[in-house]
Amino acid sequence: MRLTIITLAAAVALSSTAFAEPTAPGNIKFGENGEVELALTGVAGDAASGRKLFMNRKKGNCLACHVNSDMAEQTFHGEVGPELDGVADRWDAAELRGILVNSKNMFEGTIMPAFYRDSGYNRILKKFDGTTILSAQEVEDLLAYVITLKE
Ligand code: HEC
Repeated sequence: MRLTIITLAAAVALSSTAFAEPTAPGNIKFGENGEVELALTGVAGDAASGRKLFMNRKKGNCLACHVNSDMAEQTFHGEVGPELDGVADRWDAAELRGILVNSKNMFEGTIMPAFYRDSGYNRILKKFDGTTILSAQEVEDLLAYVITLKE
């Protein structure tokens, strides 16, 4: 009997997270330094997808600006931004989520794009107007990957 109740409770908890709406860009709560404590979706980030997004030129395109030794097989690594080797030793998960959502809150005047913001872009393709570069789930997937980058 007890087991049935626990199983039921788990099923309810699972279904409510699976159907939770992602947080819209305008509803995100930033901390004092631009960090974002709460996950944007109810679905845990997937590091393997995040790794692909990191090198996808149409998505994260992170490699265009950052060296990442975990992707030594990729020929081109940009050097506009800092190396991301060991970046998860320098920032915690909430800070890294904040950097991914809107790096401008963290680094004033940075050229790093704000990946989950739906207005106010500079120099960005018209087709992205009114939408975000990455979806909420893509941000969570990227975060799941980036927090594995420890020395
Ligand atoms: C157009 C270049 C550009 C792109 C694309 C870019 N970044 Fe950045 N990023 C920067 C720069 C420059 C900084 C340094 C912050 C500053 O401007 O002072 C930075 C900083 C960071 C930091 C903090 C690093 C540290 O050591 O303190 C992280 C984490 C980061 N970027 C992750 C990413 C990820 C993940 C992506 C892809 C989703 C990405 N960046 C895409 C330019 C870029």
